[in-house]
Amino acid sequence: MIRSVVRGIGSSLPRRIMKNADFEGMVETSDEWIAQRTGIRQRHIAADDETTASLGEAAARAALDAAGLTPADIDLIVLATSTPNNTFPATSVEIQNRLGMRHGFAFDMQAVCSGFVYAVTTADLYIRGGMAKRVLVIGSETFSRILDWSDRSTCVLFGDGAGALVLEAADGAGSIADRGVLAASLRSDGEHKDKLFVDGGPSTTGTIGHLRMEGREVFKHAVGMITDVIEAVFSQAGVTAEDIDWFVPHQANKRIIDASAKKLGIADEKVVVTVNVHGNTSAASVPLALSAAVADGRIKRGDLVLLEAMGGGFTWGAVLVRW
Ligand code: UT7
Repeated sequence: MIRSVVRGIGSSLPRRIMKNADFEGMVETSDEWIAQRTGIRQRHIAADDETTASLGEAAARAALDAAGLTPADIDLIVLATSTPNNTFPATSVEIQNRLGMRHGFAFDMQAVCSGFVYAVTTADLYIRGGMAKRVLVIGSETFSRILDWSDRSTCVLFGDGAGALVLEAADGAGSIADRGVLAASLRSDGEHKDKLFVDGGPSTTGTIGHLRMEGREVFKHAVGMITDVIEAVFSQAGVTAEDIDWFVPHQANKRIIDASAKKLGIADEKVVVTVNVHGNTSAASVPLALSAAVADGRIKRGDLVLLEAMGGGFTWGAVLVRW
């Protein structure tokens, strides 16, 4: 059977780092509160010349370099983002143009923090369906542009950045020993739409709007939703928590990551954590964390890697991939 195998990964972060202490004086908060409640110590914030398209392009170029490929080798770009450069055209098409690609096709996916998990699942289906051989899957965000910088309950939580994967069609035996995407489970439930949303948009206010979140409500649902989809993926693939080499969760809050790993029985040393240095970068968080763990040599070819995310909508999902 056809498998979607990871051929390369890359990332890109804005130049400017904003530490927790930099919020003191802007809003009533402290390094201690942010670090204790979330695990975040710093985040990267985009300058005017750094956009979802430019960060996404840089991550894509890094992933192509790691894969030993060029834009000419790519058939499809799927970009997960909730902070596009423009309402339209899709920012993925802008990235396609920046890469000098005059062939193939590109589209954006909007599933907020779950965007990258949705995008990997979608790219895998295009590859297994035979419509694409090599896909750039990008998560790129500039959430700093939609934050209300006077709202301490949200502005301290998010950061900007991008990560990208090259997925490539390869022959597999159909067993879980295969490299590539092995199982996926996606969910959404719009009943929760008012718990995490942006209060503007082209068809309603005609403005971009700002992110609004009932953090405690999101927290309450997160662990249960995350562990449900992971258990669905485990049962599809016929694996258990013990078989997992690396758990790469969405990086929203260290307490959610710890509670999810504990509930699933995944050992602490298998959990990749970057929320301390990146904050919550929404659709970029999983590929940024993956990229860090590949760069420092933790994730190696043949490892069984579990990805997970949950966010606005709500949307949530998990993907199991053998690296
Ligand atoms: O990526 C999408 C998914 N998003 C998430 O997963 C986020 C999920 N939620 C969370 O991570 C947590 O709920 C937060 C980090 C947002 C908040 O932590 P919490 O432990 O749930 O705190 P809380 O909302 O219950 O607030 C506790 C107190 C409140 O004061 P009172 O009402 O107890 O007097 C807040 O007003 O902390 C206050 N507070 C702050 N204090 C200092 C809220 N934000 C801040 C702040 N600095 N930045």
